[in-house]
Amino acid sequence: MSTAENRPDLRALAAQAAATLSRRAPGFRPRIGIVLGSGLGGLAERFTDAVTVPYALVPGFAATSVQGHAGQVVLGTLDGVPAVALRGRAHMYEGHPAWASAFPVRALHALGIRALFLSNAAGTVNPSYAPGELMAIRDHLNLTGRNPLVGPVVPGDARFPDMTAVWDPELLAVLREAAEESEVRLHEGVYAGLLGPSFETPSEIRMLERLGADAVGMSTVAEAITARALGVPCFGVSCLTNYGAGIGATPLDHAEVMEVTERVADRFQALVLAAVRRADRRLTDGLGD
Ligand code: HPA
Repeated sequence: MSTAENRPDLRALAAQAAATLSRRAPGFRPRIGIVLGSGLGGLAERFTDAVTVPYALVPGFAATSVQGHAGQVVLGTLDGVPAVALRGRAHMYEGHPAWASAFPVRALHALGIRALFLSNAAGTVNPSYAPGELMAIRDHLNLTGRNPLVGPVVPGDARFPDMTAVWDPELLAVLREAAEESEVRLHEGVYAGLLGPSFETPSEIRMLERLGADAVGMSTVAEAITARALGVPCFGVSCLTNYGAGIGATPLDHAEVMEVTERVADRFQALVLAAVRRADRRLTDGLGD
């Protein structure tokens, strides 16, 4: 259980994690953070002059145990943009408290990122979105029953962060432009984050559709909430790997999720590269200006 008593000093721990990463890549200042979801870690191979640090060596980073999640921090240049990628997640369904699952976002913030790109594999809830397609995240539903900000306020965090625009509208526009540039079909919608690890029942999928969800997964929301509390703007993409339970005819399994992410990898990478380049330009010009 996560209680306020056994939660470490997250600000101090994030500073330690950032210092560890900085020692591995002296003088390197990433501008964009990227979280790579299940089966989407291949983007890390597009980094040039990359320095790779296993999670096990970074203070506060929990080990990942799910197939398709390598557990590495990759620092380097992505198409000319200094960036840092997290290859793999520690999910809440593995038993990690929400604050621990989202902790790497705090470390990237301490490293100085100006924007955070989040990705995941997700089931489609909107029946007009097909497996193998991509969806820009316009908003989310946190249905995990957990919140990474529970406990005494971490110094520097907002206590009650406004969630009106956790998914930054300008960065969403960047994703649309990047999709056009890279000729990738990109849906938009609401990501429902559930705790997992069981997939949903058909009734739960029908419920999610009525609640306004377009896709469903078991990650991302704790990271987005943490980023918001720290003032880091987010953008993100779901890789739709399967129809939600009851929409399609076949039972769901993780192997299918991995197979589809592999099939979509080239399109996903082209989109993210274009988006990161454009987001960096926008950040340099000043978001919101
Ligand atoms: N449900 C929840 N998480 C998922 C799914 C799903 O159908 N597909 C990939 N991640």
